[in-house]
Amino acid sequence: MRITDNQLATALGAWRRPGAALARALADAVGEAALDGRLRVGSRLPAERRAAAALGVSRGTVIAALDILRDEGWVDTRRGSASTLRLPLEATTRITPSSAMGEHGVIDLRRAVPAAPHAPYQRAVVRAAERSGPVLAESGETGPGLPELRSLIADRYTAERLATRPEQILITSGTRAALALLSAHLRPRVVAVEIPTYFDPLAGFRTTGTRLVGCQVNADGWDLDQLTAAFRTAAGGMAYLVPDFQNPTGALMPRTARRTVAELAERHHVTVVADETMRDLDLRDAPAPVQRISGSVLIGSAAKTIWAGLRVGWIRGSAALVGELAHHPLCEPLSAAPIQQLVAIELLRDLEPLLRDRRAVLRRQRDHLSGLLAGDDRWRFTVPPGGLALWLRLTTMRADLLTTRARAHGLELSPGPSFAADATHSHHLRLPYTPPISTLNRVATVLDLACGGRGA
Ligand SMILES: Cc1ncc(COP(=O)(O)O)c(C=O)c1O
Repeated sequence: MRITDNQLATALGAWRRPGAALARALADAVGEAALDGRLRVGSRLPAERRAAAALGVSRGTVIAALDILRDEGWVDTRRGSASTLRLPLEATTRITPSSAMGEHGVIDLRRAVPAAPHAPYQRAVVRAAERSGPVLAESGETGPGLPELRSLIADRYTAERLATRPEQILITSGTRAALALLSAHLRPRVVAVEIPTYFDPLAGFRTTGTRLVGCQVNADGWDLDQLTAAFRTAAGGMAYLVPDFQNPTGALMPRTARRTVAELAERHHVTVVADETMRDLDLRDAPAPVQRISGSVLIGSAAKTIWAGLRVGWIRGSAALVGELAHHPLCEPLSAAPIQQLVAIELLRDLEPLLRDRRAVLRRQRDHLSGLLAGDDRWRFTVPPGGLALWLRLTTMRADLLTTRARAHGLELSPGPSFAADATHSHHLRLPYTPPISTLNRVATVLDLACGGRGA
């Protein structure tokens, strides 16, 4: 497909930048338009003369811009034919979303999410499309999920010494959908949550008027007295916990706390829903097997290990619970689209190499950011054993003021209170290490500036 000269001019809009050379500004504008989809990757650019006329520049400027784009991997030019737009290798192998790289002008780290593993994902989509025939010939409603995907996920649990049958797995469109379905089914009056915790479930519980009762967690662990009190209050209800590399603290629930949770749950008839979305992001040097909270309902997702855009998650519970959930009126609307389930099969079948790469990159980035911030008394933190972010305690200012100042320097962050059911943690800040080293350097510089310069 060829991009017409008009399409090129429209897609680029007002691309000139004061102070920047025309060819540089033009090349940057083409790259940005490719990244956010205004120019389609894989299509051919107009010929140089036509592009120059459409953009009101000389042919020499277009040639110079194409040279830059070629050097930086944005276009392929075969001898005698037009230039084809592509994404540079760097953009397709990294695990950082463009929005978190500052490529749209702002480094957006409000969400700690990785980009998709580009090439394996595209291959999985092609393979899924090739074998979609039988699924396309069906109604499109998969009930508890495609049998092959349920078996594959069950086998993963079994391989981790948690014997699981496919009837114990129900596929959803991610963890949040899993939690929404469980909440709709169990209808808890009170839910025990960690403080701080992942903010979306808090918002979800609030919309249904569910009462939240909290238990403090920090790098040192879970406050067992508060946990006991929270389970007593939530008797007959539910607990939503993130025991593995907790979001946002990165903490890993110790074995003793897991045992306590299981005992409390049994004593007070609380259904424990353990969110394992972060479980595979184990960044410890010598990882030991992580126990599970016995009797808990597990929810998992491919959001962090593969990509949030896959929208495939699952519930692992007793076959009886899964059977009941499969008959809930929200089961179908909260389930993953059949083709997405096929893509998930392709990716989950050979997940280990992807996980190995992802962990190596995250470990490097975590250590780099920790190194940049270490030894500064304007904040305190512990290097987390896993997950995607540092959890900083600011010693000189409130996090909302810092995030406002950071925004003025082009960095968006989520302040502590958004993670707290009781709106506390006003001096905490989540700092994802999902971006590459160069962006993390910029993040540290902005943090320094927003805190008033070193030593302020
Ligand atoms: C603890 C936790 N669970 C789940 C998710 C994502 O959920 P979903 O699978 O609905 O995208 C996140 C993403 O930030 C998370 O931190």
